[in-house]
Amino acid sequence: MKIVTIVGARPQFIKCAPLSRELRKKHTELLVHTGQHYDLEMSDIFFEELHIPKPDYYLGVGSGSHGKQTGKILAKVEEVLIKEKPELVLVYGDTNSTLAGALAAAKLHIPVAHVEAGLRSFDRTMPEEINRVLTDHISDLLFCPTQTGIDNLAQEGIKSGVHLTGDVMVDALEYNREIAEEKSRILERFALVPGSYLVVTVHRPSNTDNREHMEAILSALGRSGKRVVFPIHPRTRKCLSDYGLLDTLPANIILSESLGYLDMIRLMAHAEKILTDSGGMQKEAYLLNVPCITLRENTEWVETVKDGWNVLVGADYFMILSEIVNIKSSKRKIGVFGTIGASRRIADILNSIKIC
Ligand code: UD1
Repeated sequence: MKIVTIVGARPQFIKCAPLSRELRKKHTELLVHTGQHYDLEMSDIFFEELHIPKPDYYLGVGSGSHGKQTGKILAKVEEVLIKEKPELVLVYGDTNSTLAGALAAAKLHIPVAHVEAGLRSFDRTMPEEINRVLTDHISDLLFCPTQTGIDNLAQEGIKSGVHLTGDVMVDALEYNREIAEEKSRILERFALVPGSYLVVTVHRPSNTDNREHMEAILSALGRSGKRVVFPIHPRTRKCLSDYGLLDTLPANIILSESLGYLDMIRLMAHAEKILTDSGGMQKEAYLLNVPCITLRENTEWVETVKDGWNVLVGADYFMILSEIVNIKSSKRKIGVFGTIGASRRIADILNSIKIC
């Protein structure tokens, strides 16, 4: 089968690495990089570290408002699809690249496969929620990482083409965990003692675009007195700079550039606790047995909360501070993201189906 895979943002590079390896055993895959993320730190480092094949097309759309960015990707992906005439288009997750890629394919009557289907935060103010819902409704094959994903789709009347595959991020993590221990020098770089520091990331507009939220988060981190490593997303750096908060960060916060995957895994694996508004990091914290404090009011990964490894605190100063002290590793773990092998399971499904 000729498959066009569309990626564009950091988490998609991570997800496509293990699946590309599997797909290329039996299919022809063309990789399209939309250029939504374009920096060395946000894009190139992932291709290098994860040995992702060089993109066949680089669309260079760059940053912009949601409408402009989505529209540009839609127009450019359409040109590629008309030229290449693939039998399937594969998209990942919930970014503007996901929606635009799926929409371009659906309008050309090319079947769409969505990896990480069925997730919902039930919060339509999040751009990702709009992207997820719309992508699922125009997809022909829906690969769900969790049973919750299957149930959410059923609630919306989507029942055919739905498969429970487990999560490809488990494959990415397992494949790279030992490599990260060997190659990353991140603990040494910041003189970190395993189990004694916090890792924080913030990039969601609900936090970055609200000065009070950023102030509350930074003050709570400062008050915790712990060493805090803060790899900063370019959007967050810009916002903190605009708010005048960048030069007055509490002294216990170690600011770093956005990190590559190997540094990030090693940093997270040895952290005492992780604070984040990222979806992927909530999962990675769970898989690495590190308690997670989620700087959001809701999550798509509800199982991690039910299981006692994740707690939702929004940007509430007192709740953040209290959970930094109180959240402990719970012993019970139900392995919600499935076992290693989601990439192989997805490839097996694609090997066995006939697309017309
Ligand atoms: C996007 C996804 C989000 C995902 C995140 C991972 C959407 C709607 N959001 O958010 O779901 O969790 O990626 O990081 O698709 N920028 C750079 N260099 C880059 C890329 C971005 O400096 O390489 C800056 C630009 O100022 C840009 C801002 O970051 O305006 C936001 O980038 P964008 O890709 O639009 O969204 P993210 O916040 O990264």
